[in-house]
Amino acid sequence: MSDGWESSTRVSADVNDISRSSSKSSSSSVPPTPRSEEEILQSSNLKSFSYADLKMATRNFRPDSVLGEGGFGSVFKGWIDENSFAASKPGTGMVIAVKKLNLESFQGHKEWLAEVNYLGQFYHPHLVKLIGYCLEDEHRILVYEFMPRGSLENHLFRRGSYFQPLSWNLRIKVALDAAKGLAFLHSAETKVIYRDFKTSNILLDTNYTAKLSDFGLAKDGPTGDKSHVSTRVMGTYGYAAPEYLATGHLTARSDIYSFGVVLLEMLSGRRAVDKNRPSGEHNLVEWAKPFLTNKRKIFRILDSRLEGQYSLDVAYKAANLALRCLSTDPKFRPSMDEVVKELDQFNDSSKEMANTLGNQTTGLRHRRRSAGDLPKVNVVSAVAYPRPSASPLFTK
Ligand SMILES: Nc1ncnc2c1ncn2[C@@H]1O[C@H](COP(=O)(O)OP(=O)(O)OP(=O)(O)O)[C@@H](O)[C@H]1O
Ligand SMILES: [Mg+2]
Repeated sequence: MSDGWESSTRVSADVNDISRSSSKSSSSSVPPTPRSEEEILQSSNLKSFSYADLKMATRNFRPDSVLGEGGFGSVFKGWIDENSFAASKPGTGMVIAVKKLNLESFQGHKEWLAEVNYLGQFYHPHLVKLIGYCLEDEHRILVYEFMPRGSLENHLFRRGSYFQPLSWNLRIKVALDAAKGLAFLHSAETKVIYRDFKTSNILLDTNYTAKLSDFGLAKDGPTGDKSHVSTRVMGTYGYAAPEYLATGHLTARSDIYSFGVVLLEMLSGRRAVDKNRPSGEHNLVEWAKPFLTNKRKIFRILDSRLEGQYSLDVAYKAANLALRCLSTDPKFRPSMDEVVKELDQFNDSSKEMANTLGNQTTGLRHRRRSAGDLPKVNVVSAVAYPRPSASPLFTK
């Protein structure tokens, strides 16, 4: 793995949008040099796996070891030796998550390379670790650290005895962790726009530490005196900022809008887009906005499964933070550093409240089983809702 992004000069690769003309730097700064595929792969410090290695590590990509499915392809659970990284016997060594590009997948080589480019350079406690990749013939595979509790999406929206509702405190902690990951990406040293912030890309480890995954759509932020990067509009419906949808102009503020959507999903326990709800409630942001401005009305949008776990004051502040992130005018959205600061305060008050009420609100009430412990069910078919996936977006 990379031993620290601080030591490496930030390099840029235009791997997921060849038309970077709009982000050319002004004369006031040196344009980042796009890196070739070879350079990205060589400098990444990642392990290059053979297809045979990964076939063995996942027991021939067994369908019953599928952890999830996305636009890129399926994600399998596997095992490798932690020193040599050679495939090991199931249940021994280090657990990995193996994301295999579906050959008919819409997302393809460019997204695969973007992931290797970004995650090969960055190391941060709130970004998932990429261990290696496989590039052999037509195969495009990514190998990550295994995140035992799966995605935030599963915890918020999947019903069943294995997924108890996340407590208020855990929701605040997860929001804070994810905000720290995004703040790192937006920081001056990194300047990356993530472009696909959503609950399925927030993964949880055993202690509910949240990490961002999926950098297939990430882009270098604008350089010099440019205010934005022009792109083909890509992302997931329900999460993309309105000005980005309308113009294709991408800025870090678009990520902050998506953060607001996720925060609202966490507060309400509702999906960003849910066609199963009554008309008028399909789009979470449109439905919830009028309730967010009034302390007496916010209980209408708060997840009823959280009752009694939060102080109304903190819940109102959290709802207000979501509202500001969702400002139609991007300049009224807070920066991710500001978001982190505010969430940190809620985190403290949540802890205080937990201490007052005892273990009740700490989220330890239920024994939760990790996604990896789940009985052998077809995870994909167990998800009742048609899952949103990243794709080109068109204004309707
Ligand atoms: N490192 C990991 N550890 C454990 N589970 C993982 C890991 N990476 C992915 N998963 C599981 O696999 C699922 C699919 O992930 P994937 O990133 O391919 O698609 P997605 O995020 O759901 O959709 P999209 O294609 O829009 O990104 C995730 O939602 C998660 O449940
Ligand atoms: Mg994903």
